[in-house]
Amino acid sequence: MNKNIVILGTQWGDEGKGKIVDCLSADAAYVVRYQGGHNAGHTLMVNDEKIILHLIPSGILYNDVIGVITNGVVVSPFELIKEIHMLEKHKCFVKKRLFVSHAATLILPYHIEMDLAREKKLGKQSIGTTGRGIGPAYEDKIARRALRMEDLKNEHMLSMRLEEIVEYYNHQLVSYYKQKSINYKKILQDLIPKIDFIHDMIRDTTNILNEGIKQNKKIIFEGAQGSFLDIDHGTYPYVTSSNTTIGGVITGTGLGPKHFNCILGITKAYSTRVGHGPFPTELFNHVDKHLSKIGHEFGSTTGRKRRTGWLDAVYLRKAVKMNSLSSLCITKLDVLDGLDEIKICTSYKKNTHGLKNTLHSNISNQHDFLRPVYETHCGWKEKTLGIKKIEDLPYEAQNYIKRIEEITEIPVDIISTGPKRSDIIFVRNLSYNK
Ligand code: GDP
Ligand code: IMO
Ligand code: MG
Repeated sequence: MNKNIVILGTQWGDEGKGKIVDCLSADAAYVVRYQGGHNAGHTLMVNDEKIILHLIPSGILYNDVIGVITNGVVVSPFELIKEIHMLEKHKCFVKKRLFVSHAATLILPYHIEMDLAREKKLGKQSIGTTGRGIGPAYEDKIARRALRMEDLKNEHMLSMRLEEIVEYYNHQLVSYYKQKSINYKKILQDLIPKIDFIHDMIRDTTNILNEGIKQNKKIIFEGAQGSFLDIDHGTYPYVTSSNTTIGGVITGTGLGPKHFNCILGITKAYSTRVGHGPFPTELFNHVDKHLSKIGHEFGSTTGRKRRTGWLDAVYLRKAVKMNSLSSLCITKLDVLDGLDEIKICTSYKKNTHGLKNTLHSNISNQHDFLRPVYETHCGWKEKTLGIKKIEDLPYEAQNYIKRIEEITEIPVDIISTGPKRSDIIFVRNLSYNK
């Protein structure tokens, strides 16, 4: 059996994926980002240093791990270089062990301008994007007009294509969005000096990974965002523009499904969401204040306050099914320390007629008409921060975990009890789908 692990978020992102990827990467050969872009913000706390990665996979802090950014990612060459230099400041040198797919779509300044212009025009109806140009870059890919990493290798062609694309964008920016036009020559001028730096990193990453698989090397696939930000299966249109659910790893890497049989879902012990869109279990009371403060719930990419809420088991069960999760990792359990009671949403009531749906109910986009139905659990007063063995957790915390296992019908293999690498409980070896 291969040892590959896919790690993905089961909520609306920021579940603590980066920390878990880092924890599982010590004996990995490759760590892979396969979708999204620098909208992601994955936080690592290692040796009392905080490192936030947006584009480079989280396992990269281990010196012998190879980082791979595959075709499914939208890559800003400027951000990529910035992140490589940021890591160098932390004495982590990645340039010779980081590869980027020739087929990865480029994010360039006009994508960012478009993202911002659209959000501005939408006003109160805005998505609340990270403003990183993600949506427009994926649009270019689907519209078959995108520039890709490989295009950086042909300066003449790059210049011609860039001129065409910028003309297309200027038409929209100026005529429709009433913004300033963009000068393609300026983009080219900024881009050309960067090409040398990344030239040798541009590879066929599918081949690299297939070679690793052949040699039975351990590969970790690091999802970005969360299942309900998925373009197809999320709370559309308040979603990101990639497939954050399991299909994204297949199209995003070019590897077949048999290589992904350990699929670990990362679930925060409560819920958060940054940006706009439905959030049925959202809290606006003292519990929100507690979760925000103790959990430091501020976006790693934009610094925005994250909205907080109780764990939503209706959504979580949907995430388990649509990703074929083999097990869960519950993060930030310690943030619940000190709460008198802890709630889990197990079903929804229709607001108007009081009709009760069950756990198996479908989640529609008609969230405004749904009211969460909660079961209430006793909280605990003891500190769980940094606990390393499940038997050392307070009885109530153990019960909370057991209840999540019952509801989701899959095991909780890992529990995270703090931001540091060492704040972790390995309940058992990771489960695999047969
Ligand atoms: P990601 O995008 O899924 O990688 O998550 P983020 O890094 O955006 O957000 C998770 C935040 O929670 C970061 O600040 C982490 O340092 C922190 N974190 C991760 N796991 C734990 C945990 O178990 N307990 C606490 N208190 N913080 C955690
Ligand atoms: P990680 O990987 C949380 C959200 C944005 C917005 C929506 C669309 O750190 O979990 P986009 O810029 O992608 O077009 O924004 O998606 N979003 C995230 N929320 N964590 C993330 O990544 C996110 N990446 C995008 O806030 O609501
Ligand atoms: Mg994040």
